[in-house]
Amino acid sequence: MNNKVHIMDHPLLQHKLSILRDEATGVKEFREIVGEMAALMCYEATRDLPLADVEVKTPVATGTFRRLAGKKLAIVPILRAGLGMVDGILTLIPSAKVGHIGLYRDPNTLEPVEYYCKMPGDIAEREVIILDPMLATGGSATAAIQFLKNYGVKNMKLMNILAAPEGIDRVQKDHPEVDIYVAAVDEKLNDHGYIVPGLGDAGDRIFGTK
Ligand code: PRP
Ligand code: URA
Repeated sequence: MNNKVHIMDHPLLQHKLSILRDEATGVKEFREIVGEMAALMCYEATRDLPLADVEVKTPVATGTFRRLAGKKLAIVPILRAGLGMVDGILTLIPSAKVGHIGLYRDPNTLEPVEYYCKMPGDIAEREVIILDPMLATGGSATAAIQFLKNYGVKNMKLMNILAAPEGIDRVQKDHPEVDIYVAAVDEKLNDHGYIVPGLGDAGDRIFGTK
């Protein structure tokens, strides 16, 4: 099965992304916009959630309407930068459980190094949305997906704000069943594994480090 790449080129997302890209955008605005974009992208990434009929008595009449069928969701941010997307998602899905995977990219090898993990006990029964603003080489995303597979998770989606073609190819090759939701796909990676033109180091810009 080939995964789908959902490129969400909605004008609101494109507008907000152009502000993230701007090197003059400060920490406060950058952080707020990452959260807003995550919420907007969540709308599309949850489009296939199942619904069930329920009977509701309005002040006027009784009718059959639809509510979410109780599918269990979890979101899993890849630390650090993925944390910036959590609150935006939780505004729309407040009862989602949250697991954390700590990975950083070794600056020399560009390989992901794991340093933390804490998952909800029933993660294997949940549909999981993995959150990370950046999909560059794809090393961190593929490691996170494999990690969740080892936990028994069967249904996963990957949500990134910005991707490089190399990262998409890597996820498609290693995990062809995982759909990718992204606001834009840039041109390429540079020699340091940064997305070009990109937005810089997402973690540093969200947390004001550097
Ligand atoms: C960034 C980003 C991704 C990873 C993407 O994290 O948030 O997790 O790089 O690169 P890849 O696709 O080549 O693996 P980073 O390692 O800088 O850690 P941070 O979030 O703690 O800043
Ligand atoms: N991680 C980032 O934060 N930015 C990039 O461009 C690549 C990896």
